[in-house]
Amino acid sequence: MEQTLLLSGTEVSKHVYSGLQISIRSLKNRNITPGLAVVLVGENPASKIYVNSKTKIFKNLGLYTKTFHLDITISEIELVKLISNLNKDNSFHGILVQLPLPSQINTHTIINSIAPQKDVDGFHPENVGLLSIGKPRFIPCTPKGIMRILEYYEISLSGKHVVVLGRSNIVGRPISILTSLKSKFSNATTTICHSGTPNIQQFTKNADVIIAALGVPEYLKSSMINPETIVIDVGINRVEYDNDKGYKIVGDVNFDNVKNSASAITPVPGGVGPMTIAMLVENTVEAAENI
Ligand code: GUN
Repeated sequence: MEQTLLLSGTEVSKHVYSGLQISIRSLKNRNITPGLAVVLVGENPASKIYVNSKTKIFKNLGLYTKTFHLDITISEIELVKLISNLNKDNSFHGILVQLPLPSQINTHTIINSIAPQKDVDGFHPENVGLLSIGKPRFIPCTPKGIMRILEYYEISLSGKHVVVLGRSNIVGRPISILTSLKSKFSNATTTICHSGTPNIQQFTKNADVIIAALGVPEYLKSSMINPETIVIDVGINRVEYDNDKGYKIVGDVNFDNVKNSASAITPVPGGVGPMTIAMLVENTVEAAENI
């Protein structure tokens, strides 16, 4: 049997960053430093880790970023007021509100209050609508990163059957739209499976590409796929483990079990995760270019 191809998001992200240097330099020549405002509410450990990794990369690239770390008790009105100020602040080309938000805050109200031109996450209904009609402004970072991995490894989806596991607004829904758009690396026949889908295996067994974004640790096993399948693992799950930290990070795919049964696979870590950040940088640079 042929060796499984490891799809390295770390490698693709380095390629993205080196390409972005040209755009960043030409913005600098115009005295523009791409800037990202990050809004973090509360002390969710995973959110804090994500925000730290994002801002570290912005700083390493010489870009401007500021984190607004707010108390978990902040009201919706106060949060909308902060975002409205950030919308007017010319030093920020992008605004990212880290999700999830605490339960007293309506996530839709907050996303709707971000200026669509600064919505580098691509979550605002205007940007979701533009993507769904095939005229994207900002494409959500994780789905955009998945497409970029496939392009880098010259894996065209045209005519293929893509099975997406999960229907979230952050990954499952937008990747199902992207993969089925009529464009060079898309043009797939896409099936979305979710918690209401009976017998998911009947779909995964017939998939050319599986995108696992359901948030269940090590859900996908080798018995659920065929040997030609390309597996993209979007999961980042913390599970208890007998080591110094007491936990380890695993994907939505049982990597050790699937790695020799698929034709290609993204690892966790080092797969989709680094691409999410690279696409956030790319979207922020594009936002700065668009002013
Ligand atoms: N929470 C999990 N993923 C994301 C993301 O891509 N953007 C934001 N804002 N929050 C998230």
